Amino acid sequence: MANKPKRIGILTAGGDCPGLNAAIRGVGKTAIINYGMEVYGFVSGYTGLIHKEYTQLKENQLSGILTLGGTILGTSREKPFKISKNDGNINKPELIKKNYEEMGLDCLVCIGGNGTMKTAAKIGALGLNVIGIPKTIDNDVWGTDITFGFDSAVAIATEAMDRLHTTANSHQRAMVIEVMGHDAGWIALYSGMAGGGDVILIPEIEYNVRSVCKKIEERFNEKKSYSIVVVAEGIKVPKDKKPASYIAECIETYTGVEARETRLGYVQRGGSPTAMDRILATRYGAYAAEIIAKEEFGQMVALRNSALTTIPLTEVEGKLNLVTNDDPLVRKCRNMGVSFGDEF
Ligand code: F6P
Repeated sequence: MANKPKRIGILTAGGDCPGLNAAIRGVGKTAIINYGMEVYGFVSGYTGLIHKEYTQLKENQLSGILTLGGTILGTSREKPFKISKNDGNINKPELIKKNYEEMGLDCLVCIGGNGTMKTAAKIGALGLNVIGIPKTIDNDVWGTDITFGFDSAVAIATEAMDRLHTTANSHQRAMVIEVMGHDAGWIALYSGMAGGGDVILIPEIEYNVRSVCKKIEERFNEKKSYSIVVVAEGIKVPKDKKPASYIAECIETYTGVEARETRLGYVQRGGSPTAMDRILATRYGAYAAEIIAKEEFGQMVALRNSALTTIPLTEVEGKLNLVTNDDPLVRKCRNMGVSFGDEF
């Protein structure tokens, strides 16, 4: 008798990002076409897994979603292993195990960022088969050189900066642009380099307002009529202040240069993925299906030195990929006169 086809579940969890559908499609198409597996998509991340809300994904349903932003499955920030007063007597980990077993799943693919990988590792510890796929615009997942979503966010932030250059020039202003990234400065660093930022402030490098203002004054004295200041959302600012507003306020107060702020916000997470993100997400998805076929569970797929690889989820759990002061991009920027707000 032929072997029963493998049944896999897929979910997308945490903040959305461009490329999620490309990853779902990569896993699903490879699993169905190449391995004859059955694929089930859970609705709204771990919430769907807890409440057994799912739909079977047929191959034809995976067509036409490659370029779509967001996630056809929906997402949530549900953390099933965090005990909450509102949960009453519901034991979410128990429900997850029960649902997985009742559905006869052979593996669960969890597409998400740090929180999602942490939960996936815990699901693995329940004795269930899991595979993680790293996504986030923040690029802060440990164990991989890059997450999908990041390239799209950098492209969006860079485009915004290109537009700020012309209006900053017309008005001789300092333009402060705040980008996302959570506790990591990757989006600020990359879009700052691509968008010609004169000052880049990231959470990993402690800045001083006086140093930022000195840079702005120097530029004006050098007849550079405007400045672009890129600020990561995670930098330290006084309580009740928003990073971009605070830095713009300081520039106006201490230099007399007119300053304006722009908070890019959720546009960085929306819309169609870049070609690079489509490729990365597809590669991660397809590779996840290959790993499942080989029954190598408990792993996160990753990219290291341009090659696909895996890393145990237990090693990823609880760690962050952050920018270091000696990152090659930081050094290149510094050598070209870009300020990180720590020079005197
Ligand atoms: O992790 C992605 C991200 O967009 C961060 O850059 C940001 O800090 C956070 O999510 C915003 O989260 P939420 O969607 O819960 O507002």
